[in-house]
Amino acid sequence: MSEHVTVRQIQEKKRKKEKIVVLTAYDYPLASLIDRSAVDIILVGDSLANVALGLDSTTQVGMTEMLHHAKAVRRAVKRALLVGDMPFESYQEDPSLAVANARRFVEEAGCDAVKLEWFDRCLEAAGNIVAAGIPVMGHVGLTPQTAGQMGGFKVQGKDAGSARKILENALALEKKGCFSVVLECIPAPLAAMITGRLSIPTIGIGAGKDCDGQVLVTHDLLGLFERFTPKFVKQYVRLNDSIEKGIARFCADVRRGKFPDNAHSYPMNPQELKTLKGKAT
Ligand code: KIV
Repeated sequence: MSEHVTVRQIQEKKRKKEKIVVLTAYDYPLASLIDRSAVDIILVGDSLANVALGLDSTTQVGMTEMLHHAKAVRRAVKRALLVGDMPFESYQEDPSLAVANARRFVEEAGCDAVKLEWFDRCLEAAGNIVAAGIPVMGHVGLTPQTAGQMGGFKVQGKDAGSARKILENALALEKKGCFSVVLECIPAPLAAMITGRLSIPTIGIGAGKDCDGQVLVTHDLLGLFERFTPKFVKQYVRLNDSIEKGIARFCADVRRGKFPDNAHSYPMNPQELKTLKGKAT
């Protein structure tokens, strides 16, 4: 694999049956750590809204916030493929804005590709972005930007009719030239079927083990976000606990006068100090 992961290499992984690992990042320090790991793709997700900005819905972030965070992540990422998540306002309200906004992710933030969620005019938007030379990752199943129209954050494609629709949407995105597609919150057998039918990689989140790759929101897997935890999230560490303990120790040390100690303070030449105090002979 070359220094910088490419779209072609991601697609090759499906052919070679090598799993693709994707994580989200929103800032420089975590993006650096993730990029140093073996992650293939880093997504600047609009989950930024929930896990980093304390908002209720991903629809509450726009281009300004997404570009701001994508630029910080870009400064850190040297190896992984960097994908910018198109926020609701950038293409769903007016699909004719999609290409110009996708270009901003590439030209202003330095992203390698963009992701967009399924909506009624998704094929038009995806096709136009691909035609402009920007690689596109699709997203079907549960699509948080339009979850309200789907009856909330629920598993999608549980009956044959809705499952077929999700399969058809994924196939249509492939036909439009998307290089991969996220399958969110759908039954594992449906995800396995879609993965078998597509020649582009599927990236699952709550879609079972047979997808070509897996994505999680980094703050969920690190135990940094506690407002809600979907069934599909596995928490690998509980950083919240360590952070709380560290902050509590800092507060206690400051209040007891134990911090800063000499090891964390700057000394002054005693002669200079005497002069300063006006006692020098
Ligand atoms: O915004 C996001 O983090 C996402 C992933 C969960 C796929 O869209």
